[in-house]
Amino acid sequence: MSSLSARLLKRLESRQARVGTVGLGYVGLPLAVEFARSGLTSIGIDLDARKVDAIQRGESYIPDVSSAEVAALRASGRLQATTDFSVIAALDTVNVCVPTPLRKTKDPDMSYIISATEAIAEHLHPGMLVVLESTTYPGTTEELVQPLLERRGLKAGVDFFLAFSPERVDPGNRAFNTHNVPKVVGGTTPVCSELACALYATSIETVVPVSSPRVAEMVKLLENTFRAVNIGLVNEIALMCDKLGIDVWEVIDAAKTKPFGFMPFYPGPGLGGHCIPIDPFYLSWKAKQTGFEPRFIELAGQVNASMPHFVVDKIAEALNVQKKALNGSRVLIVGIAYKRDIDDIRESPALDVMGLLHQKGARLSYCDPFVPVLSGRAWAGGFDLQSETLDNASIFSDYDCVAILTDHRGVDYKGMIAGAPLIVDTRNAIKQAYPHVFRLGAPQPTHAAVWNDAPMGIGDAVVQAII
Ligand SMILES: NC(=O)c1ccc[n+]([C@@H]2O[C@H](COP(=O)([O-])OP(=O)(O)OC[C@H]3O[C@@H](n4cnc5c(N)ncnc54)[C@H](O)[C@@H]3O)[C@@H](O)[C@H]2O)c1
Repeated sequence: MSSLSARLLKRLESRQARVGTVGLGYVGLPLAVEFARSGLTSIGIDLDARKVDAIQRGESYIPDVSSAEVAALRASGRLQATTDFSVIAALDTVNVCVPTPLRKTKDPDMSYIISATEAIAEHLHPGMLVVLESTTYPGTTEELVQPLLERRGLKAGVDFFLAFSPERVDPGNRAFNTHNVPKVVGGTTPVCSELACALYATSIETVVPVSSPRVAEMVKLLENTFRAVNIGLVNEIALMCDKLGIDVWEVIDAAKTKPFGFMPFYPGPGLGGHCIPIDPFYLSWKAKQTGFEPRFIELAGQVNASMPHFVVDKIAEALNVQKKALNGSRVLIVGIAYKRDIDDIRESPALDVMGLLHQKGARLSYCDPFVPVLSGRAWAGGFDLQSETLDNASIFSDYDCVAILTDHRGVDYKGMIAGAPLIVDTRNAIKQAYPHVFRLGAPQPTHAAVWNDAPMGIGDAVVQAII
């Protein structure tokens, strides 16, 4: 081990190291907080001055990180944030957690990684460790990041240290967080691996070294492709069950009693978030460079992308049973975040469903306790919407149809069952059969038309009887 690497190791182990995190979003802020919590001096860098100012004020904007914790770490001096990249000159390590979206052509958009790496390269100094965490195609660290960092003459593995370690955080997950999800680490040399492992060992319960950055990059893509393909499979099974009149939710619940060889995945209105709908296409893109045509990724992508259309058809079919047209009907979308109990609407299938419903003339409102405002830029309707508040269950009766697209906890589903004339449930939030509830992947309710003809108030009586 050289004197540079020995010095960094010592600084990490003694918690004297000053560590940086570039990109303070869903991944970067929890990581910067975790480093600070372990006793390191943690400095976050982001282009977004609003995020930096919030942290400096001791406020969190990420639901998984409490403002109390940010405020305490700010007060202790162990957490700081800035928009100024020149602080990197005085840092021992930098983790890069910037976005990796897709272009419209489904090609990787590497512009964030490139601009962050170029900014780091300006202040790179001997003995520093750089770790890329953004999800990306195998080869990015060595083929793209390393040459950008080496432009000024310093050499990876000799003068500075370079590794890839995928972030595996699951926003909103109450059991697993940045601290207790094992961290896979692959350095460009054995010393790079050792130093990156030492960095994470300060703050994360389990560190899993692998032989190279490429392996670490591929690990993340295997995990996310596994999810995308299995969700695609279960969505296709749900479409089949829908045709066959079988309840897919009951099937999954029974199948998961098998103690081995089966893992439950659940159908829904489509894929969302910054990971599962996107990351497999990074792998697909890279594989195609070698002439390999990945089939599972493309097929799962097609099935998953078809789900918002299926949901719109389901809403139209449900309205039709009640002798109503989609055109002109008032539809309340419940939940627009891409998954339960979080505020993230990136790639959310709810936005696709809303765009399609709007195109067909539905009069849309939405309610999401985590997303108070929906900007017109975020969906195809093009106009701003504000979340309805559902404090009074009678509000449900104002709509021709209520469509549950995200099953947030804390929504009054009993009140919805009692008040709404028609419900389309894409998440199995309402687990029982009701005459006016159409569930994705389940048999059509048998008395739906009768329900519509029933006198007002019968809903309450039936719900009382069934719940
Ligand atoms: N969100 C997740 O659940 C999750 C989970 C695992 C992995 N990831 C991966 O982690 C990476 C980051 O995702 P995220 O959800 O945290 O994104 P995010 O959009 O929440 O945060 C990214 C942050 O980077 C900042 N940024 C962009 N360019 C920058 C630059 N050049 N310099 C400094 N800051 C810059 C943005 O302002 C933003 O605050 C992505 O590659 C994503 O695929 C995300």
